[in-house]
Amino acid sequence: MAQRAPSEGQVLMQGGLFQSAATAHYAPREKMRIAYADPPYIGCARMHYKDHPDFAGEVDHLQLIQKLHSEFPDGWALSCSSPTLRELLNICASVGADDVRVAAWVKPWAVWKPGMSVAYAWEPVIWRGGRKKNKKEHTSRDWVSANAVMRRRNDPNQTKGTKPLEFCCWLFDLFNMRPEDELVDLFAGSGAVVEAWEWWKRQGRLPLGV
Ligand SMILES: C[S@@+](CC[C@H](N)C(=O)[O-])C[C@H]1O[C@@H](n2cnc3c(N)ncnc32)[C@H](O)[C@@H]1O
Repeated sequence: MAQRAPSEGQVLMQGGLFQSAATAHYAPREKMRIAYADPPYIGCARMHYKDHPDFAGEVDHLQLIQKLHSEFPDGWALSCSSPTLRELLNICASVGADDVRVAAWVKPWAVWKPGMSVAYAWEPVIWRGGRKKNKKEHTSRDWVSANAVMRRRNDPNQTKGTKPLEFCCWLFDLFNMRPEDELVDLFAGSGAVVEAWEWWKRQGRLPLGV
């Protein structure tokens, strides 16, 4: 089904509880610059994206993690596939990013090939950093449940791996982002993440209890 942007005030997150930014209790801290990397899975760039305008060969994940770790001290997240999680965590450790955590995007509905014994229906998100919360702020979950996106009406490339709005809002909440923060989307694809960030900032609200 096509991904539809919610109208103003529509609640999308699980739990559906929101708090106005004006009344939220923020931990005092500087503006953050957060990176999100959603590259093709290791070794799969050509297979899935060779005809995309932003295709640039296979992604060097060592180089990518080095960049995330050195250029984004405030925080970063990297989406990946579950079979490559061990390899990527080893790379993180090798570049000194040993405080990373693993969160999960679980997909109640996902695509898989017929005859597959156990489907790959979740995606790890390796992440670190973010704005620390004080005791009055809500605690975020380290997982989100959201259906995979099949088609996007406004994406001529029909980018595989497009992130749903629920995923994006959960990610912003994971980092405890504020509207004045900067989000750097290193693999924009359909543009859904930046679009969600712009939408999220416009709401002037923070999700609670997701
Ligand atoms: C998983 S998709 C990103 C999806 C995006 N987060 C979204 O919500 O639409 C990966 C993107 O990286 C692009 N890509 C492929 N190879 C690349 C490379 N070597 N360097 C940079 N981008 C690449 C693909 O064409 C695709 O647009």
